[in-house]
Amino acid sequence: MKSQPYVQTKSFLKVMNGEVCFPPPVWLMRQAGRYLPEYQALRAKAPSFLEFCYTPELAAEATLQPVRRFGFDAAILFSDILVIPDALGQKVAFEPNEGPKLDPILAAEDFAKLNTPLDCGRLSPVIETIQLVKTRLSPDIALIGFCGAPWTLACYMIAGKSVPDQAPARLFAYRQRDLFQSLIDRLVQASIDYLAWQIEAGVEAVQIFDTWAGVLPFAEFERWCLMPVEAIVAGLRLRHKDARVIGFPRGADHHLMDFAARTGVNVLGLDSTVDPRWAAKTFDRGLVLQGNLDPLALAAGGLPLETGVQQILSAFRGRPHIFNLGHGVLPHTPIQHIELMLDVLRGGSAK
Ligand code: CP3
Repeated sequence: MKSQPYVQTKSFLKVMNGEVCFPPPVWLMRQAGRYLPEYQALRAKAPSFLEFCYTPELAAEATLQPVRRFGFDAAILFSDILVIPDALGQKVAFEPNEGPKLDPILAAEDFAKLNTPLDCGRLSPVIETIQLVKTRLSPDIALIGFCGAPWTLACYMIAGKSVPDQAPARLFAYRQRDLFQSLIDRLVQASIDYLAWQIEAGVEAVQIFDTWAGVLPFAEFERWCLMPVEAIVAGLRLRHKDARVIGFPRGADHHLMDFAARTGVNVLGLDSTVDPRWAAKTFDRGLVLQGNLDPLALAAGGLPLETGVQQILSAFRGRPHIFNLGHGVLPHTPIQHIELMLDVLRGGSAK
């Protein structure tokens, strides 16, 4: 099925400002990536994933590819959350098919080796990428910047790789509490600087990805997820008072209400486990909701995809909503399924 012609209306920014748009604006987490053949071709031009992220011409092109192909309402800067540990001086590498590998932080000596403040020279290609994208992106399409939340970054910095339960960072936080707090504080400051630079370069909103927020009991969630994001939002708004922030505390579940009430984010990103009808009833209309189609429903296609989109559209009808997935696009997702998703979304068939 081909996508319908669609007139861009800058609806992403309208919704960000509290307006209701139907159909809602749409972008997808991990909209740039391996499921796109043009991404694969571009990716082959750089020897490593980090060099790819740090080459403005390539990163700008990766940012624009999904917008060009699908007509999304927003582009997200092509980079990775792990550029922050890299710019802090930690050794970061991406092994093909293995995910990230970092020299783990195990003790005070490892922490002491990190740069203070953040090495902005190392991140200057990211800023250049934003400037390049701005010259090439249609003014109707918003550009989103991002960073990883301190907790999620700490998970990778301590484990040195992807682990499902984040036991290494959780144990570190219990056993070496003061040191862990210092690491989180350092990451809060680095995130404020980094997001402020991104805004100065031209991004119109920023998303804070807290991919591993869901593994913590409440007191730990409050201290390591909620309070650091609250501090980033407050610090960023001291520098850019109208900074628009999307919080995405994946898996935060029943902590979502506290997170929304206290962090001051403009938009709450919902993962796929959250019932959109519950969210629409629970959150104040002043809070924009984003999400939350299951990436596996998108990968599966057909009826699960169509009903998933319809249920989300009808739940959020009449309130400010940005359509997205509940987590990133999976690498094996067929392109036709994204076209179908957009047809259902923009065909306006949800009544
Ligand atoms: O399109 C976009 O969303 C923008 C680019 C983007 C990437 N990573 C590119 C990427 C964004 C926003 C991220 C965020 C990110 N990176 C997160 C938070 C969101 C989430 O997915 O939970 C996390 C936890 C990371 C860390 C990371 N980067 C991992 C664990 C991996 C390996 C697993 C994987 O998906 O390959 C990466 C690599 C990565 N980041 C790729 C891309 C396109 C794949 C690298 C490749 O091309 O081989």
